Parts: sequence; structure tokens; C-alpha cells
Amino acid sequence: MSYEFVEHEYDVVVVGAGGAGLRATFGMAQKGLSTACLTKVFPTRSHTVAAQGGISAALGNMGEDQWQWHMYDTVKGSDWLGDQDAIEYMCREAIPAIIELEHYGVPFSRTDEGKIYQRPFGGMSKNFGEGGQAERTCAAADRTGHAILHTLYTQALRHQAEFFIEFFAIDLIMDEEGVCRGVIALEMSTGKLHRFRGHETVLATGGFGRAYFSCTSAHTCTGDGGGMVLRAGLPLQDMEFTQFHPTGIYGAGCLITEGARGEGGYLTNSDGERFMERYAPNAKDLASRDVVSRSMTMEINEGRGVGSESDHINLHLHHLGADVLDEKLPGISESAKIFAGVDVTKEPIPVIPTVHYNMGGIPTNVYGEVVTIKDGNPDAVVPGLMAIGEAACVSVHGANRLGSNSLLDLVVFGRAAAIRAAEIVKPGTSHKTMPESASELALDRLDRVRNANGNCATAEIRLEMQKAMQKHCAVFRTGDSMNEGVKKIDAISGKLDDLKTTDRSLIWNTDLMESLELENLMAQAQVSITSAAARPESRGAHARDDMPDRDDKDWMKHTASWLSEKGEVTLDYRPVHAYTLTDEMEYIKPKKRVY
Ligand code: SIN
Repeated sequence: MSYEFVEHEYDVVVVGAGGAGLRATFGMAQKGLSTACLTKVFPTRSHTVAAQGGISAALGNMGEDQWQWHMYDTVKGSDWLGDQDAIEYMCREAIPAIIELEHYGVPFSRTDEGKIYQRPFGGMSKNFGEGGQAERTCAAADRTGHAILHTLYTQALRHQAEFFIEFFAIDLIMDEEGVCRGVIALEMSTGKLHRFRGHETVLATGGFGRAYFSCTSAHTCTGDGGGMVLRAGLPLQDMEFTQFHPTGIYGAGCLITEGARGEGGYLTNSDGERFMERYAPNAKDLASRDVVSRSMTMEINEGRGVGSESDHINLHLHHLGADVLDEKLPGISESAKIFAGVDVTKEPIPVIPTVHYNMGGIPTNVYGEVVTIKDGNPDAVVPGLMAIGEAACVSVHGANRLGSNSLLDLVVFGRAAAIRAAEIVKPGTSHKTMPESASELALDRLDRVRNANGNCATAEIRLEMQKAMQKHCAVFRTGDSMNEGVKKIDAISGKLDDLKTTDRSLIWNTDLMESLELENLMAQAQVSITSAAARPESRGAHARDDMPDRDDKDWMKHTASWLSEKGEVTLDYRPVHAYTLTDEMEYIKPKKRVY
């Protein structure tokens, strides 16, 4: 079957219009680069809209603070897997990034003095962990992502970036020298295929939370950028590290912000005990997410869960009073009512650790350039390709991300990518001719999936994959369970060869779209569980019952994972950047992580 392309040429092409994609898009347009932004959903419906509690920066509006303390907390939170040069960059740039957002028009909540309101969040401390809880998370009530996303979109429109809305990216265009030349996309409303050429292609496609059965991620979080990168023969990094947010609504998975505990909410077990006091005597309910999720899981496993099946935990907010709840937590008060039938002024919310964030992703340097391991160089730049946001792994979150460092990552590295693109791309530079074969990967894939006529429905394969990931790549892991999971996911992935799509059309073919998304999810499920099974230690979110200790001597290193066309996973390792960017901060030496 032959397909025709609508051709486009831009200086830069951004795929994805969440917080990172929009920040990069308008930053590039502002610098005079012709910029296209492709997105499979309307920009303000991107998953950033769901971020609730806030964005971190050591502004010091509610007490003393320093970006160096923020950096210390982030390194400790990452369980020493984060790259310290990148973490320094993020925490230092956080302060001007927030002021910039304020000037762009983000409607932050305010203190009585009119400063940006900042709330406590997990793992954020003062004075290098010695000075108690920091109030560092800047909030717009509990709808901070919503406020930021809408503001960034208006900025992008103001700078005349061009949007291609409801365009589904199928695959990258890679030339024979390994340079990325652009991306092929399907216009969902017309069924037309578009070929976008760009001197830089920026993947800002978000995470792959939907590889799991229960997650806070939108249905659109199918890791499309990670899938494209693996098919281009490039690696993903640290895919074994999946964050479980302690407070997803039991049964529904919707997020209840960590800001709820930041404002004074607390967790109890079936004895009514505030059990976090036992697990994290100092930080208690505001220990880092991996610690709180593990503690909740232990309570449930030891028979102290609540509910008729003793399988969840209670989150109490009623003592905060209706006025505080109305002013600071209106969004989650509504979610609790709708999804759990709970009036938060009177009853606890039933919660359970729920998949929330992928620390792993497309490896990049601090400028947003994608890197790979090549000829012995662990930081070899892939020309023409950038990645930012949850799709990327810079790595600022290492083995465990601190709450409110994600919105920060989006704006800081979206901006960094724009700065870098303006340095290396001269506006209006002509595009090299390219053989038609460079587009074959995308066309073959589209045609194969569109005409798949096997026996297995997309939804069935997806559900099997989600259940296997939920069971075998969970809050607690063991070697046996993960090895069993690797076999299961390999077998389920094999079913994609027997896929059945029922709709052969190209216009608004959601069957086709979901099948393409499933391929992206499956590829990332495979490399995630294989990377996990190969890591014989516990670090951050990768907590092994059978190997409870961190092994800094042999395993303080990033996992790089490739997936062959035949579905075989190959692993290699990159060193963690154990150095800072400037001499304003010294390397933070590893130590035992207690809260
Ligand atoms: C939350 O509000 O708890 C989510 C924000 C984040 O994941 O950083």
C-alpha cells in the first residue's frame, strides 16, 4: 500500500505539548527559530494539567531556604543515582524559573504579604537535612499544573509557534549516519500522513504510566517518545525505577496530592495508628514517596490495612477544617467526593500506593540533548535529537523523585533545550536531501498495525501486560518474581505478532491509535522489567525484599537498555555523574538515607 506525505520543514520540531513541550516550543519560537509543536491531544489537555501540589524552588518566602539545600534533598531523594551536575543546574535555575512563570502570568496562591505561597512537601528539608521541614513547593491551590500549562500555552501562542493538534507521532526519521532528521505523524482527523523535517526534534511525550494496571497517569501516557527511541536503535535509561505515589484513591487510581499531607493530613492503619511515626520518626508523613509507599504496603501486608479486605490505608484531612480545605485543597476535595464518595471535612479518604511517575526515560545531558553509549563514550550526543520532561532521564531524579520536582524539571529543561537549540541551529538553514528509505520505519509500522489480522485484541493484550507489570514490578520486588515477570512480559509481547485491529480506515481510527500506543507501552514494559531483574540491590523505588541493601560499590550506575527488532533486551551501564557543575557546591557523598 502506498502512502503520501504532506511535507513540512521547520528549524525545530517539538513532539508533545505538556509543560516541557510548551516551555521548549515558545522558548525556541521566542529565539527566532521556526517551531512546530505536534500533539496528540489539545495542548491544555496534556497530562501536566493533572499535576496538583506544586513546583519546588528555594524562594525562601515562608522561611529561610537555599538552592544548595534543595540540591542536597534531591540527591538524597534520588538515593545517589541522580547526576549531581544536572541536579545542581535544576535547583539553581529553579528560582529564576519560578519568577519567570510568575511574570508570564501563573496565578500562584499568595501569602498575606503577597508573596508566592509555598507548602511543605516530602523529603524537602532545611540546612542539609538538619534543620527540619522546608516550605519549598510553590502552589496555585492544588491545581498548579493546570495553572502552569494554561499559562505556557498562551505564551506559545503569543510567540507564534505553530501547533499541529491531534497529530500522532509514529516514528523518528533517522538517517544512515544516526542523525535525527524529523518525525512522521498521522493527522488523526483527516488520516493524512505528515513528514516533519527539523534540525532538532524534541521529544516531550511524557511517561509510560499506562504500562501498569493502576496509575495516576492519563490514558494518553503511553510513552510514545520512548517507543520511538527504542525502535530507532537507541537506549533508554534507568527504566527499573517507577514511582508509586502513596495516595492514589483506592479503586480509582486518581491522585490525591502530597500537598494534602503538606497541609497537615496524615495516614492511619486499621488500629487508627499514625504508623509513619514508626517508619520515619522525623519526617513522618512527609518522608519521601518511596519510603511512605513502602511503609503503607508493609502495614497492609502485615494485616493492618483498612476496609472490608484490609487492603488500603486512610488519609485524614477533616481536622484541617472546611475553610483550609476549600482554599488550599479544593481540587482533591472534589476528586474525593466524585471518586471515593467521601466528604473530606468529615471522613478519611481511602488511599493506596499507585504508579505515578517514571524516573527512567530517554537519556540526555543538561542541555536536553539525547545521549547514548558509543565507542566507549557514555555521553555521546545523538545529533538532531532532544528529549525533555518525564520522557527524558537527565538524570535529576535518579532512583526516586521528590514531589514537586517534576513540574520544575519540565520548565527548567524545556527552557534549557530552547537555549541549546538556539545555539546550534541557525534560523532558516536548509534541510539536506534524504533518501525515502529514512521514512520506511514509520510507514511499515503504520501499515503492519493497521492491517493486523491475528486473533488477539489490543485491549486484551494491554490488560495482560498491565496486570503483569503491576504484580512483578511492584513496590516490593524479589528476584524470583521479577524473573517470572520478564518471562510473562516476553510472552505477552509475543502476542503483538498475532494482533487484530478491526478498523482499517485512517480517519479517527482509535483502534489503530491504541494499537500503536500499545506497542510503545510494551517495549517499555520489556526494558523496565528486564532492567529491574538485573539490578541486585535496593535503591530508591527499586526495593527488593531479597536484597534490601544499597550497593554503591558495584551498582551506583545508570542502566542503559536497548530492544532489538526481535524483542531481545540488551543492557549496559553508564557512570553516575559524581561531580557538580560549579564550585558553588561540593559533591554530596553517599550516606545512609533516613528520614
Ligand atoms: C502531587 O501533587 O502530589 C503530585 C506532584 C508531583 O508528583 O510532583
